Amino acid sequence: MNDSENKKRSLAFSASEEPRFWWHRLPGSNYVPPIYAFLSEDEWQLMREWYAQTSRENLIGECAVPLMSFLQGFIMGNIIHRIVQLGTHSGYSALLLGFYLHKMGARRGLFSLEIDESFCHYARSWLKRAGLSNVVQVEHRSSLDPLSGTLAREYLGEAPELVFIDSSHEYGSTRDELDYWYRELAPGGTIVLHDTSEFAADFDVTKQGGVRRAFDEWRGRNPGVESFSFNKDVRSMDAPPSAGKDFCGFGLIRKSL
Ligand SMILES: C[S@@+](CC[C@H](N)C(=O)[O-])C[C@H]1O[C@@H](n2cnc3c(N)ncnc32)[C@H](O)[C@@H]1O
Repeated sequence: MNDSENKKRSLAFSASEEPRFWWHRLPGSNYVPPIYAFLSEDEWQLMREWYAQTSRENLIGECAVPLMSFLQGFIMGNIIHRIVQLGTHSGYSALLLGFYLHKMGARRGLFSLEIDESFCHYARSWLKRAGLSNVVQVEHRSSLDPLSGTLAREYLGEAPELVFIDSSHEYGSTRDELDYWYRELAPGGTIVLHDTSEFAADFDVTKQGGVRRAFDEWRGRNPGVESFSFNKDVRSMDAPPSAGKDFCGFGLIRKSL
């Protein structure tokens, strides 16, 4: 990788036709978003290599710029040092959140659960290369395992301040994850869950309504809890330009004190 390409950071992605780089081809997106601009040269170089390798090996399943931008701003603005992630995949958000937590001085800051053992090995190897092994733990375990909450608390030192759900996208599992992890969350803590739009309901392989239905029902059962569903009504990637750019949508739940 040469230096001039490294300097362009994510601007170079706009020339790619790979579906994963859809955001970088949007009109007006010809700038480096803060999620990448904030990284050191070495950190960005590692992310570039991660992108190149995961493209070659077809290990693509990460969230994209809009949601990661929200997470970075929310975590760094609110000094959040204890995060649980449900679904690690090949490590995109584990690496970026790890870099942010590291800059914030957090150690043992992200506990990331993943049911696929090969993804656990893969993500761990990149986290080790990134020097983040003391910031992020990838745990080979289901988000719904009765021990997951206890292990997360042991690793983080206290209950999580943020739980980021981006796992099976299935209605039944998401319904159970919301109940389980709301209990595990620290008072005043936040759940961020990806894929709450109508468009993303199709990701549910059980065809039962996906994250959207699970979240809608959870909100109905918990009317006194602050929550919000962003881009809930987006049905396709052809939403008007004024809509939020994450056509998969995301939801927020804030645990009462
Ligand atoms: C969309 S990917 C996560 C991407 C990740 N948030 C990122 O941006 O890098 C979903 C992952 O969740 C994992 N998964 C699905 N169900 C799970 C469960 N019950 N517990 C833990 N991981 C799960 C899948 O194996 C898959 O790797």
